[in-house]
Amino acid sequence: MEHRSGMETDPFLSSWALRDQKCIWHPFTQAQTAAPPISILKSKGAYLYAESGKGYLDAISSWWVNLHGHAHPYIAEEITKQAKELEHVLFAGFTHPQAIILAERLLSILPNGYSRVFYSDNGSTAVEVALKMAFQVVGNGKKILSFQDAYHGDTFGAMAAAGKTHYNRPFWPYLFSVHSIPPPLPGRESESWRAFEAAICTGEIAAFIFEPLIQGSGGMRPHCGKTLSRMIKACQTQGMITIADEVMTGFGRTGPLFASSSLDVTPDLICLSKGITGGFIPLGATVAKEFLFEAFLSPDATRAFLHGHSYTANPLVCAAANASLDLLLQSGCREARAMIESEHRQFQKKWEKHPKLIRCDVVGTILAIEYRLDGASYYHPLKQRLIEFFQDKGILLRPLGNVLYVLPPYCIVRDELQTIYSTIAMTLEEWQ
Ligand SMILES: Cc1ncc(COP(=O)(O)O)c(C=O)c1O
Repeated sequence: MEHRSGMETDPFLSSWALRDQKCIWHPFTQAQTAAPPISILKSKGAYLYAESGKGYLDAISSWWVNLHGHAHPYIAEEITKQAKELEHVLFAGFTHPQAIILAERLLSILPNGYSRVFYSDNGSTAVEVALKMAFQVVGNGKKILSFQDAYHGDTFGAMAAAGKTHYNRPFWPYLFSVHSIPPPLPGRESESWRAFEAAICTGEIAAFIFEPLIQGSGGMRPHCGKTLSRMIKACQTQGMITIADEVMTGFGRTGPLFASSSLDVTPDLICLSKGITGGFIPLGATVAKEFLFEAFLSPDATRAFLHGHSYTANPLVCAAANASLDLLLQSGCREARAMIESEHRQFQKKWEKHPKLIRCDVVGTILAIEYRLDGASYYHPLKQRLIEFFQDKGILLRPLGNVLYVLPPYCIVRDELQTIYSTIAMTLEEWQ
């Protein structure tokens, strides 16, 4: 049957959602029990518009990628212009202005000390690249050190680096082993430090990977930047490579442009993705200090960094990233981030002591609340109840188990934030 004409009269048969269910396999979705997906046909600002005409306020920036609002006309225009000039060229033996300009600009806004940008396709590949660089330089059969409840992506190296979590359970037998230590959560800094010292004393650690200041998928949990800085310093003194996974925290989410600039010391590698293109097209970047780049220099071709993707540094992607940077670096964007943080803090002040909450944290533009719950887990039914409740109210929120977080695009306005807060308040005040 032809479904493409859009001429069917049966509303179900003409539904994109129904057609989707016959041909699409969705990420992190149990197809047997999941509700049909909501088909989105248009977007503008902080809103996504469904086939039904209903608008959804995107309070999580569509998995944390969108920075300046959906379908931003300036980014769309810059991609279009680039598409008419050069759509793609392989990136070994060739280069192009958008990639060079983007690298120069990233290096100029990152903390001092970085000099090389290696492009890849997404957050997981940005992490894979960092791990491979570290292994090739100092690996020697040694292990990765990482925080418990980390998340670094879904490719094998990225999964392994996070340790064994509920996100990667079916693959546990195939993951390389890592050394996992508790992150320096508030009040647990010394426990974390002791575990860190014990790990590095083994002499088994090649590299330390971490999400700076706040763990994202692990439950939007902030941790202590001072303790993390001490850890980075200790690793560097002993020749271990330090890797900041800023895939979620980068491009202003924690307030400053990068969470790493809040640390007392600069990690050796920084992984970037998600917001890098303003949420338009996927791109990964692994930014390195010069000593790492130099470690690969040799007359021997096989000592080069043997990694590359077909679409490395695609010009359209780089054009999107350059356009997004134009918007990000305007003072209005910094003010918008400060406004979001200040509104979050007012919410925090009002609700943090609520008996239904274990915690209410604000880190820059990120607000996270944790519901008090018996038997809390990522798959607890509360998660689905919250998703459906907010969807019904026209708000896109997607909790991590019993942790509900707001991580909005920077174009969101006060009234929209207030709508989100008052709807969250209903779950605290009115729900049984
Ligand atoms: C900290 C962190 N690293 C890596 C990734 C993987 O990024 P991607 O989904 O683009 O592969 C994510 C995704 O959520 C992330 O939050």
